[in-house]
Amino acid sequence: MSKSIIGAARPRIDGPEKLSGRATYTSDNHPPGMVYAYGVFSTIGRGRIRGIDVTEAKRMPGVIDVFHHGHFPKLYRTPSSFVQENTVDETRLPFEDDRVYYPGQFVALVVADSFDQARAAAYRVKVDYAEEKAIATLEQAMAKATPKEDAKSGHSRGDPDGAFDAARHKVDVTYVTPMETHNPMEMHASVAHWENGDLVLYEASQGVVFARNVMAKVFGLAPERVEVRSPFIGSGFGSKLWIWPHAVAAAAAAREVGRPVQLVVPRQEMFTTTGHRPATHQRLRLATDDSGKLVALSHDSVNTTSQVNTYVERTGTCTKSLYACPNLRVSHATVPANHGTPTSMRAPGAAPGLFALEAAMDEMAEAIDMDPLEFRRVNYTDRDESMELPFSSIHLLEAFDRAADSFGWADRNPKIGAMKEGNEIIGWGLAACNWEALKQACDARVSLRADGTAFASCATQDIGTGTYTIVAQAVSDITGIALDKIEVQLGDSSYPSGPISGGSWATATTLPAIAQASRAAIEALKSYATGDGGAFAGAEPDDLQFADGELLDGNGKRVAYTEVLSQLRLANADGEAHTPAASKDEYSFRSFGAHFVEVRWDPGISNLRVSRVVSAIDVGQVINAKTAANQVEGAIVMGVGMALFEKTEYDEDSGLPVNNNYAEYLVPVHADQPEVEVILLDHPDYAFNEFGARGIGEIGITGLAGAVANAVYHATGKRIRELPITLDKLMDDIPHSA
Ligand code: MOS
Repeated sequence: MSKSIIGAARPRIDGPEKLSGRATYTSDNHPPGMVYAYGVFSTIGRGRIRGIDVTEAKRMPGVIDVFHHGHFPKLYRTPSSFVQENTVDETRLPFEDDRVYYPGQFVALVVADSFDQARAAAYRVKVDYAEEKAIATLEQAMAKATPKEDAKSGHSRGDPDGAFDAARHKVDVTYVTPMETHNPMEMHASVAHWENGDLVLYEASQGVVFARNVMAKVFGLAPERVEVRSPFIGSGFGSKLWIWPHAVAAAAAAREVGRPVQLVVPRQEMFTTTGHRPATHQRLRLATDDSGKLVALSHDSVNTTSQVNTYVERTGTCTKSLYACPNLRVSHATVPANHGTPTSMRAPGAAPGLFALEAAMDEMAEAIDMDPLEFRRVNYTDRDESMELPFSSIHLLEAFDRAADSFGWADRNPKIGAMKEGNEIIGWGLAACNWEALKQACDARVSLRADGTAFASCATQDIGTGTYTIVAQAVSDITGIALDKIEVQLGDSSYPSGPISGGSWATATTLPAIAQASRAAIEALKSYATGDGGAFAGAEPDDLQFADGELLDGNGKRVAYTEVLSQLRLANADGEAHTPAASKDEYSFRSFGAHFVEVRWDPGISNLRVSRVVSAIDVGQVINAKTAANQVEGAIVMGVGMALFEKTEYDEDSGLPVNNNYAEYLVPVHADQPEVEVILLDHPDYAFNEFGARGIGEIGITGLAGAVANAVYHATGKRIRELPITLDKLMDDIPHSA
């Protein structure tokens, strides 16, 4: 492996296309004859549609048709199945019946010649609702229903309750996290185009293969008759993993009107009908012996789901194995609310779960009067006790040490509120990070071309993480061809089957397939070279070496691959590969890390900010130091948002969303950005794959909110157990809801 390529800090190869505007996102596509669709969205949280009056809308200029539950083609549901690569979150089809399950649900769809005509007409569709009282919040949902346990994701070992009861030192605390909404810059969008009964769908998608398979099921077609294209995505954070109702609606409308249809989900409805991170209620019980070793740990969690599907937020997945503990339970349960169906949002489960666990760890450390860093060292384990397997590679202690050193943790005065600078009280807190390492099966194609370039393709996608660039790095690593001579094509379901951009597994999944395809291309080249008329005619392919773009034999003869191909008038030498999903079964594969966070609290003006973050991340071999650090930096910003700002609010009476817009749904802005230092530990995990890479998209957000909460406690003496940590919760004379 060439260290000048693998691990190097390389700029994104797709940067110029994006910066110049040449990169086409879904809504940049305008097939000939295209018309526009705009949704009519439910203005009640729950109930039934008594009637829809489309008379006025249909008379408006440019309007072609108005679809609703009384006027929509019959489609098919998909048997959501990860194994069959057709996962959906919301199995109910749009316009399936007259029921309204959540505010913002599609209740009609106007198709018109222009976007403005479609939107104007959508506003004139009159819907008569029979409204019922909606379940608007986690509290209402928990009051209304007994949480339904998800047996599959639970885990228990030893006797967690007995050990807890018997222990001398314990904490029993409940943490609450709010509904959060993904806010990728690019809105969800579909451009659907039918040609001779085949569907071409441009879709802002984190998974073109899954999207193709779902659309094929919905329209009752063979998958080969559907093509999903998503070459550039303005990020997704998990909201674009699976097909949502808008894509089905757009494709059906396009078939009905016989014209290509473009549908963009308006920003407000990005908060209702394209997924969210559900609210969670997490009870943590921790107990230790006198030496500080955990003797009992239980993490019992409930999250909101929708009325139509069960989505489990697995907050306890990290809890199962992050620390040594013989008596441990993790349980997950759901309660329905009148919201759209929740979905994965960056580090699903782990982000809210490690907020709760790592804040509770801080409370436990305090209860036994131990430094929180020391407490974590005491409970360190290199074995996954839930799987009874060693971790393939774990450098958590090094992550703690290096981040602590760089942060200056040794200078911390543990006394609450004791560290001051001017009017500000400084708080320091820490947390561990944790995320699973997964990989899937993958196909890839690599081609060495006679013109000196190379080409690689795979039906995965680059959602802004740098996948185009690291695929080129992998080709370059194997072939020696310079990065700027490598063309990478991703984001089309007709390419060799590739993984979703999710779960932090695209890198670990795609790169081994790309490497294998590169080697297969070299083998093809060798067979051409040793065949009739070839540069090494008569030699054995196995006697040839390939290095830096040249074939060489044992006698010092070298011929550039371009020359080998040109001599034979061949355009290229192709290689294809299939790499399996399976990992070695003697290990548990996970990534680790540590966040150290400084907050500054100015009590005189009630100002709180995260001022400094040092994070050390252990994700195996880093492929590109620049894009990898960028992933962690972005995750930290998102973690600051989770800690201090983000909460999707629903009105308790009407059940309607309150802050479903960019003005009132708060995310960090530049002024909120802390000074960030990212330390990438870079220890290859070759038990996982040939590159030793485990993936880096999600781990950076895990634990961050816990570290912030711990720092806030250190500064203020207030344990805020409900996110976000808003100022009212820190002000003594203002009652708050936690
Ligand atoms: Mo990620 S939440 O699997 O896009």
